[in-house]
Amino acid sequence: MSILSIKDLTYTYQDGAELRYILRDVSYDFEPGRFYAVLGNSGSGKTTLLSLMGALDEPRSGEIFFQGASVKPADYENYRRNHVSIVFQSYNLIPWLTSVENVLVAMDTTDNKLPPDQPTVAANLLEYLGIDRAKSARRVPALSGGEQQRVAIARALATNVDLILADEPTGNLDETSSEEIVQVFKTLAHEHGKCVIVVTHAAEIAREADEVLVLSKGALSAA
Ligand SMILES: Nc1ncnc2c1ncn2[C@@H]1O[C@H](COP(=O)(O)OP(=O)(O)OP(=O)(O)O)[C@@H](O)[C@H]1O
Ligand SMILES: [Mg+2]
Repeated sequence: MSILSIKDLTYTYQDGAELRYILRDVSYDFEPGRFYAVLGNSGSGKTTLLSLMGALDEPRSGEIFFQGASVKPADYENYRRNHVSIVFQSYNLIPWLTSVENVLVAMDTTDNKLPPDQPTVAANLLEYLGIDRAKSARRVPALSGGEQQRVAIARALATNVDLILADEPTGNLDETSSEEIVQVFKTLAHEHGKCVIVVTHAAEIAREADEVLVLSKGALSAA
């Protein structure tokens, strides 16, 4: 069964007298264990689409389904807390906290059952993502961009969700860090069964994806 289905999603802005369509009847079924890249030019609606899939915003019409069940606006908070994680281009970590503390804060937000001894789990998760114990204990501004994005991915995984969305996750990273982060996403999909959906204009990410979709003129189609 699909983990996430989007059905006839439409999103518009009122532009003076004109109604501008950013997304028009966009539908797709996303499967677990797969790494998807959604490509599109700047302004094509990638962030808008991700916001709808992450229930950060409501479509003008259409629906999203998580594991077959419709996610209505009244369910958005629960969905965000327990079923989906989002990784952003600019990491969005809490700067006055350490890496471990950032991950612990995320763990605190979910109702999902997590293992006991969360500080150890958080540190192990960070270590798995290449952030050793010394770095874990640093406040995040003392980490490089690539390292901060690893912390953000650790945070996304800490709540034990199966759906990871990312908006230009390598946009602020150099080539090497970008490649490493892409490999992390691939591993999460292929070895841990997560559904990973990355929206990006980076062709390098698309090359590594299992499936490439293109967003253009409000429509989503296979590349
Ligand atoms: N509040 C708003 N009012 C009107 N139009 C908006 C508003 N927010 C976004 N838009 C428009 O919606 C379109 C899609 O924006 P979106 O941020 O989803 O694009 P994007 O593909 O993520 O672009 P980028 O690659 O630059 O991040 C753009 O043309 C943008 O100007
Ligand atoms: Mg964007």
